[in-house]
Amino acid sequence: MNKEWWRKAIIYQIYPRSFNDSNGDGIGDIPGITEKLDYLKELGADCIWLSPVYASPNCDNGYDISDYKAIHPDFGTMADFDELVKKAGERGIKIIMDLVINHTSDEHEWFQKALAGDKKYRDYYYFREKKNNWGSFFGGKTWEKVPGEEMYYLHLFNKKQPDLNWHNPDVYNEVCDIMRFWLDKGIAGFRCDVINVIYKNSLDNGKRRIALTGLEHYLSTEGCHEILRRLNKDVLSHYDCFTVGETVFVNPAQANLLMGESRKELNMVFGFEHMECDQRGLKWFKRPYAPKRLIAALDKWQRECEWTANYLENHDQPRSVSRFGDIEDYRKESAKMLCALNLCLRGTPFIYEGEEIGMTNGDFDKMSDIQDVESHTINGILKKFLIPCGIRMKMIFRTTRDNARTPMQWDGTSNAGFTEGVPWLRINANHEWINVAREEQDENGILAFYKAMIAFRKQSDALQFGDYEKIDSKTGVYAFKRTYGNKCVTVVLNMNCYNAGLPEISGKIVMSNYNRSDLDEISTLNPYEVLITEREDR
Ligand code: NOJ
Ligand code: CA
Repeated sequence: MNKEWWRKAIIYQIYPRSFNDSNGDGIGDIPGITEKLDYLKELGADCIWLSPVYASPNCDNGYDISDYKAIHPDFGTMADFDELVKKAGERGIKIIMDLVINHTSDEHEWFQKALAGDKKYRDYYYFREKKNNWGSFFGGKTWEKVPGEEMYYLHLFNKKQPDLNWHNPDVYNEVCDIMRFWLDKGIAGFRCDVINVIYKNSLDNGKRRIALTGLEHYLSTEGCHEILRRLNKDVLSHYDCFTVGETVFVNPAQANLLMGESRKELNMVFGFEHMECDQRGLKWFKRPYAPKRLIAALDKWQRECEWTANYLENHDQPRSVSRFGDIEDYRKESAKMLCALNLCLRGTPFIYEGEEIGMTNGDFDKMSDIQDVESHTINGILKKFLIPCGIRMKMIFRTTRDNARTPMQWDGTSNAGFTEGVPWLRINANHEWINVAREEQDENGILAFYKAMIAFRKQSDALQFGDYEKIDSKTGVYAFKRTYGNKCVTVVLNMNCYNAGLPEISGKIVMSNYNRSDLDEISTLNPYEVLITEREDR
């Protein structure tokens, strides 16, 4: 395996709307990010993944792009963007951007021309006289009628996100041009949105399922692999950059085909199996979280994948400490344990804004607190099925993507130091005590643990490049070894909210969330306890 820079980089995801507002309009922006570069540097971030900042009508907060070469005025100007790349570069921080090429916005010029009847642009999308039975990722239908015509267009997401036709070479050329435009500005790569669904083999009806009928026609198709190989050869291989694919419904074998070193497609992918461990089929139907299911999914990906992109949070998922930890009695301990988990696995670690201070799910109590298009679509569908309001709210509040999108909690003042205006999304009331300013004063805090854990990882070949081997996972205690040459790092994570026995391990304790220093004195692990030991074999 090559040791490219991106394998050992600590990547910090920023959801720009929610990070830091510099001009008081209630929306986070690019100058706001530039203001916080020193914070990110001190944390140990090597690379920022910027969720979309392109021009967009914001039906899906920027994942509906209306101009791929323009910055949305809410976020600032192109000069602000260039300044961010420059200032980040001065601190040794690289930037990757979101590449959303399964669909555009319906307000994109291409789609507008297509609607106006321009044949060239009609062929950029899927316009058909006959609909098929496919289901949308957001629930509901996938075909929207063209006004004034007996014609429909395909949208796997919202109707404002028409799917691009990847059979059309013009679409390929346009996207190559867009990628070069940003790479020439000095960015270091892309996070490729739902990349394994872009190429539709056919538009035939799909086998009926409760959700996503039709997916056998577009999931990880050979056509998609071919496009990825071509994008790599024609564009990406000419730059010092990397790609991480968001790949839905893939197992490790399929993931390897998308990012294996010899394949020359993507460099790494985000899997979802571990994110599905607390759901029954659909994410809206939760089942109680059981550590053993999370561990089983992680262990499987560790063993079977050539490389992984590790994460416990992003802008689409509930907060990890609310989900896999305990925000009532052990927030600090469980957030630190989850930090160690994410940073000790083999692969490139991604940290989502606010994760490093143990931010929790939003404290929403009515539907009008929620902005996310997906949550509103689902609410509409549940209403049609006459699901009572109480149940609908319960399902939505614990799963809504807005849980991760509440503004970053910088301090304990009324708007959490995020804005001087009215925040676009309600700020969690717990910002009074969960915030960066407070964490920065606490040498035993979650943020301090993140900094120490990142620093430790950076000097450890075993954690950055070593092999992975599970030692134990009985009783919800996840213990594994990372070895490189004669160096061995052992990680033990009690993922339970109760005490558990310590598996047999050796070495010198180098990280602990309960201030432990002597292994011999430990027989029982505390709730959410993590111990990391280091050993050198002769
Ligand atoms: C995945 C993105 O992460 C999500 O936020 C978005 O809604 C969909 N792709 C559609 O672009
Ligand atoms: Ca702003």
